[in-house]
Amino acid sequence: MMILAIESSCDETSAAVFKGAELQSHIIATQEIHSQFGGVVPEIASRAHIQQIETIVTKAIEKAGITPRELTHIAFTEGPGLLGALLVGHGFAKGMALALGIPLIGVHHMQAHILAHFIEDPKPAFPFLCLTVSGGHTQLIKVIGPLDMVILGETTDDAVGEAFDKSARLLGIPYPGGPLLDKAAEHGNPHAFKFKIPEMPGYDYSFSGIKTAFLYFTRDKGEAFVRDNLSDIAASVRHTLVEMLMRKVRKAITDTGIHRIAIAGGVSANKGLRKVLAEEGNANGWEVFIPDFSFCTDNAAMIGITAYYQAMAGDFKEINCSPHPRLPFPIRKHSSV
Ligand code: KG4
Ligand code: ZN
Repeated sequence: MMILAIESSCDETSAAVFKGAELQSHIIATQEIHSQFGGVVPEIASRAHIQQIETIVTKAIEKAGITPRELTHIAFTEGPGLLGALLVGHGFAKGMALALGIPLIGVHHMQAHILAHFIEDPKPAFPFLCLTVSGGHTQLIKVIGPLDMVILGETTDDAVGEAFDKSARLLGIPYPGGPLLDKAAEHGNPHAFKFKIPEMPGYDYSFSGIKTAFLYFTRDKGEAFVRDNLSDIAASVRHTLVEMLMRKVRKAITDTGIHRIAIAGGVSANKGLRKVLAEEGNANGWEVFIPDFSFCTDNAAMIGITAYYQAMAGDFKEINCSPHPRLPFPIRKHSSV
């Protein structure tokens, strides 16, 4: 099996080649242009994907040391994501699958974030819990097998990535807000300012209340105070958001008795979250899985490994398929553990 995988759901154009479950090559191009606008502009993202995709795919194939004729499967991100951006990867994948006469595999972006843990060693044994945290999702998932997952809880409003990005904007931190707030927090005191954490039932999350609390805080204190205390405020905001994530993680570990915990998605690059999880894991005897930075944010390697499992299960797409910006999870939602 030689799989070419393409990811184009948001502002990263990426391609990877897998030989079976072994990663052969991986190229990621991040679209820097959006920083001028303070956020991802969908129309510009689509155009940038169109400009880059051929070069990125060609580089990935060359780096893998193969010719396109040696490919046996083409995988693409089916959704969720920005429609125009998804269409670029999908159209390119479809064209190649048609030209080469090989099967097409449509991959769910969030399932792929979780399966990024199977690109490299150490890989988690099943079952494990995964906190999936990105710009559009916040979910606590029980992973029973590569394609067998159950959502234990999720956000009822904003995603935690959005909460990081919006808090960054309130603090005058430019785009990309999440990673820059993380950096600003590095030398700050996480206990300098206290924010009340809202209670949510079960394993669900809500970030809209805390976002409003940050808004009132910055308004009350004023611009000059925020500027002069930026690292302490950033550290306190990061501490609060990470604590909100961790409360449900602790509860799920206790309730399920599953002591293997992984994090996935863009926010899993957050240094505060990585540190707290590693420390608590050490103290409590949990087996903790934290992805390499290159596999946290959007990348085609995670699409490729997921496509490998789908190919093994015979899950292929018709050539006339289309991408779906709000593709539902291919997994079940459970009210109990
Ligand atoms: O998974 P991802 O790359 O794209 C989506 O599928 O949404 O996640 C992007 C999100 C953004 O909200 C970004 O600000 C956040 O992940 N993010 C971070 C960090 N790196 C990326 N948030 C906090 N700290 C970081 N270091
Ligand atoms: Zn993502």
